[in-house]
Amino acid sequence: MERSTPGTTAARSWLILLCLAAAATAGVLQAHAQPDSKGFISVDCGLLGKTSYVDGKTKITIAADDGFTDGGSFHNISAEYITPTLAARYHNVRSFPDGARNCYMLRSVVAGLKYLIRATFMYGNYDGLSKLPIFDVYIGVNFWMMVNISDPAGLTLLEAIVVVPDDFVQVCLVNTGTGTPFISGLDLRPLEKTLYPQANETRGLSLFGRWNFGPTSSTQIIRYPDDPHDRVWIPWVSPSYWTEISTKRPVEHTDEDVFDAPTAVMQTAISPLNASINIEFSWVPFSLPNDPSPGYIAIFHFSELQLLPCNAVREFYINLNGKMVFSKGYTPAYLYADAIYNSNPFLRYSQYNISINATANSTLPPIINAMEVYSVFSTATVGADGQDVSAMMAIKEKYQVKKNWMGDPCVPKTLLWDKLTCSYDNSKPARIISINLTSGGLRGEISSSFASLKALQYLDLSNNNLSGLIPDALSQLPSLTVLDLTGNQLSGSIPSGLLRRIQDGTLNLKYGNNPNLCANGNSCQPPKNKSKLAIFISVPIVLVLVIASATILLFSLLRRKKQVPFFAYEGSMNNSVEPQNDTASYVPTTGGHGHSSSMRLENRRFTYDELKKITNNFQRVLGRGGFGKVYNGFLEDGTQVAVKLRSESSSQGDKEFLAEAQILTRIHHKNLVSMIGYCKEGEYMALVYEYMSEGTLKEHIAGTRNNGRCLTWRQRLRIALESAQGLEYLHKGCNPPLIHRDVKASNILLNARLEAKIADFGLSKAFNLENSTHVSTNTLVGTPGYVDPEYQATMQPTTKSDVYSFGVVLLELVTGKPAVLRDPDPISIIHWARQRLSRGNIEGVVDAHMCDDHDVNGAWKAADIALKCTAQVSAQRPTMTDVVAQLQECLELEEGRFAINDANSNFYTGNSSNPNSSYDMYVTNHSTGVSQNDAFEMEHNFGRIPSMATGPAAR
Ligand SMILES: *[C@@H]1O[C@H](CO)[C@@H](O)[C@H](O)[C@H]1NC(C)=O
Ligand SMILES: *[C@@H]1O[C@H](CO)[C@@H](O)[C@H](O)[C@H]1NC(C)=O
Ligand SMILES: *[C@@H]1O[C@H](CO)[C@@H](O)[C@H](O)[C@H]1NC(C)=O
Ligand SMILES: *[C@@H]1O[C@H](CO)[C@@H](O)[C@H](O)[C@H]1NC(C)=O
Repeated sequence: MERSTPGTTAARSWLILLCLAAAATAGVLQAHAQPDSKGFISVDCGLLGKTSYVDGKTKITIAADDGFTDGGSFHNISAEYITPTLAARYHNVRSFPDGARNCYMLRSVVAGLKYLIRATFMYGNYDGLSKLPIFDVYIGVNFWMMVNISDPAGLTLLEAIVVVPDDFVQVCLVNTGTGTPFISGLDLRPLEKTLYPQANETRGLSLFGRWNFGPTSSTQIIRYPDDPHDRVWIPWVSPSYWTEISTKRPVEHTDEDVFDAPTAVMQTAISPLNASINIEFSWVPFSLPNDPSPGYIAIFHFSELQLLPCNAVREFYINLNGKMVFSKGYTPAYLYADAIYNSNPFLRYSQYNISINATANSTLPPIINAMEVYSVFSTATVGADGQDVSAMMAIKEKYQVKKNWMGDPCVPKTLLWDKLTCSYDNSKPARIISINLTSGGLRGEISSSFASLKALQYLDLSNNNLSGLIPDALSQLPSLTVLDLTGNQLSGSIPSGLLRRIQDGTLNLKYGNNPNLCANGNSCQPPKNKSKLAIFISVPIVLVLVIASATILLFSLLRRKKQVPFFAYEGSMNNSVEPQNDTASYVPTTGGHGHSSSMRLENRRFTYDELKKITNNFQRVLGRGGFGKVYNGFLEDGTQVAVKLRSESSSQGDKEFLAEAQILTRIHHKNLVSMIGYCKEGEYMALVYEYMSEGTLKEHIAGTRNNGRCLTWRQRLRIALESAQGLEYLHKGCNPPLIHRDVKASNILLNARLEAKIADFGLSKAFNLENSTHVSTNTLVGTPGYVDPEYQATMQPTTKSDVYSFGVVLLELVTGKPAVLRDPDPISIIHWARQRLSRGNIEGVVDAHMCDDHDVNGAWKAADIALKCTAQVSAQRPTMTDVVAQLQECLELEEGRFAINDANSNFYTGNSSNPNSSYDMYVTNHSTGVSQNDAFEMEHNFGRIPSMATGPAAR
């Protein structure tokens, strides 16, 4: 046995957190299938409709299960079992008469973190058959517990503590041929990683019992908000054996406390009535199929509650079946929570007798405050690759596939999804290698999620009703050898990537019998938009550009006298940057590439006199930099602009100026600051940009803008996503890729709608990575705190150098701190955040000035993305495309969360729709009143919990 306090914390490596699987395909997010701001997910299974309600006692929002599962049917329990104290959750169930396995999908959890999962079951003769079922419950692909309903009015409660390997977790009910599985309620609660060190990636804890000794009220179950982790502490009172001790003073926790027992539980304890008697109790193990006597872990919680006179000693032994479990006498500390626990299961016994007896030196009898007993179960079986599972879930949802598509697609083999083939390798998660959905009645577009199945070799979608374009992303599947699309309604042409794969003989593409497809000389349907046109026609892209430029030139000739843009001849051809429409049309940026609005003014050349007029003689300075100043101005039509004028004294800015002008005439994206025109007259050089009224992101993070009001979490996520999209365009939409080389918070500008745009391309460079293996430069550029260490070491900038700098900006957004902190010595924000996050301390990292409440999981996820971006080794960093996908997911979750709050606002009492304010009301009322109707779900059924039936008994 160990004590909890000194350093027994198994501080798990941060790396585990980094395994967060990139779920490229989130599928359709249901607004209520989301954790709340505490990261809690609470489900009322079988509740009709898309409603949710707030539990009267805990004030936790409970959602209907629609969106968590797509099987089964809902039923009300029989009226005779509905009593006034029965919580609403138990009035209905969802049952699963069909299919061997039916699952609930809990999404948006953080891969590698620890969670408490609770499932509850009350039969209540919902089917009118009075037949008590027995079935199995799994977490993911691992057997968790057998549910054996022995009493229609009894409540079965399962609770597990597990490390979740993916960013989703499934809870599955498996029909074992002994009755129809059903479920009443399902909860998920995040736990800090350091809590319950006995649970790890391969071992879960399943609750046997959790008892609060000597509670102030024998019916008062303690859970949220008294226990911030919402564990259920069952009162245990036995006045004929025990005397109760309690205090009103707070019981403290040490930082290393790995169980975090709530104060309300620790403030009460029991002691034997008669000082010569020991505290004794016992339990008999559950027997499980294949495991008649599972291993048990016990946690004994102690705190001294009485201030003892100095000659008094309270010291005792803790014994299991007559053997000491803690090797010496133990004395609880005054008003400090401590625990004695075993890290590995006890030897197996047919009965476990615990006896706590005073040592010979002790002048006082033993005490105990609380106790938990868990059986351990293996979570070592791994399911299919997390990204494959997420993709299959999205595909299933998109095409509404029923079949046996429930739970893990590949594991166990006996429940392999119809129409799939998986490959199994003992050391790695299973992968999906073939999908045959021929004649499957699929309609709509080809899901982009197919392109996330990275191990796919064979994909047959023939003879369906699929329409739309063929996604070129499928050409990125390295192992795909057969793609059968015959007999659909697909349109457009065969994308270039797939054509290449056909040409090099790595792919067999079948596409016959698609009347609208432009192949084999068929006539094409007119494509929907311009950017897609470029893919289908075989005219070289350069030619298209020439035509486009000619049009623009013509336009400007009509407006002004003939002038050749001064930068048109700058730079060599192979360094030039051209939007590569081919890629761009599949880059998941929204809103196109901004060609339309900025075209009008493109290449406008200003005279110095015009600039003087526009800026009212350079009156108002918006900002300044090494190159000179930026002035406020207004065009003739009233459009507000920013004029960057190179200072005459600065010679160093010349090259950067030209570089920026060159780049900005060629790239257009809604998340890149656009140039309206330029001036080159003698020594005067100036660039005219669109006006960004909200200034730099840096000012917003520092709170020096907007009267010190800071950004909300949602605004931050949106800014991060938009900036990432701008960078993604530079990396992917430009060929060769353009590296910004100076990504930082002060180079991200915000307009009046707080839309983010990347600015300052003075240091940007195009690098053709294919043609030269060494793109080294002789000067290191960038800003301290943001520079990629690998670039620093090799002098070779890559797109991953921008990813690194972007990671720093993302950390700034999460933490509200600058890239280099004074702590008091300078420390990089990356080290600062890594240190805290490795201890599981997300709240210590998140900006305390966040204007709104934020979702803990969302903050974790964003911080996690930032840390991946700032990995030392560039190969381990994601691409900007990955970052965009992940941030998009974060934002969807956050917006989904708002949808919940908005939807629930009418459930709150009083005149406020703000959940927090009514929550406060609850806290203040809570100590005075015990609400009858909202009495916790289990109170009235307490004695009937099967795990208690064989549970401890006082002796
Ligand atoms: C989990 O803990 C058990 C028991 O200490 C150990 O055998 C196992 O290797 C651990 N698993 C991991 C992944 O650390
Ligand atoms: C308490 O239990 C220990 C271990 O079982 C035993 O050795 C000891 O004699 C007991 N002491 C008393 C005072 O009962
Ligand atoms: C009891 O007290 C004596 C004297 O202080 C000490 O030597 C002995 O180790 C103590 N025994 C226990 C079990 O603590
Ligand atoms: C795909 O499924 C169809 C019908 O289920 C079958 O006829 C065909 O042979 C399958 N293709 C492969 C390659 O297994």
